[in-house]
Amino acid sequence: MTTSNTPTQASAAAPAITSSASSYFERHIFFCTNERTNGENCCAQYNAQASFEYCKKQVGAAGLAGVGKVRVNKAGCLDRCAAGPVAVVYPEAVWYSYVDNSDIDEIIESHLKNGQVVERLLTPPELGR
Ligand code: FES
Repeated sequence: MTTSNTPTQASAAAPAITSSASSYFERHIFFCTNERTNGENCCAQYNAQASFEYCKKQVGAAGLAGVGKVRVNKAGCLDRCAAGPVAVVYPEAVWYSYVDNSDIDEIIESHLKNGQVVERLLTPPELGR
C-alpha cells in the first residue's frame, strides 16, 4: 500500500522552527528540586523547593507571570549537582547557583524582568554532576 504521508515526505513538509514557534513564554526559569537519599549532593538539601516557591510567588507578585512573560518551573536533576542549588533560565540558557532569597530577587529583577544576566551568580562552567 502506498500513502502520500511517508516519514520522508512528512519531514520535508514540516514547518521550520522559528523563534515565534517557541515564544509562548518569553522566559522559563527551571529550579532543580531533586532530592537524593543516598548521601550524594542534591539541590533539595539546600531548600530548593522553598526557593522555587519563593520565586514563583515573587514573579507573580511582580506581574511577570503568564503567557508572553515568565514561567517558573521546577525540574528534576539538571546534572549540575556539584554547583547546587541551581536554576537555569531559557531561552538564554543561563545557569545560576543561588544561595538565598536575595539572590532569587536579583535574578528576578535583573534577568527575568530586564534581560540582564546576574554575573555574580553564574554557575561555574566546569561544575557538573
Ligand atoms: S540534584 Fe540538582 S542538579 Fe542534580
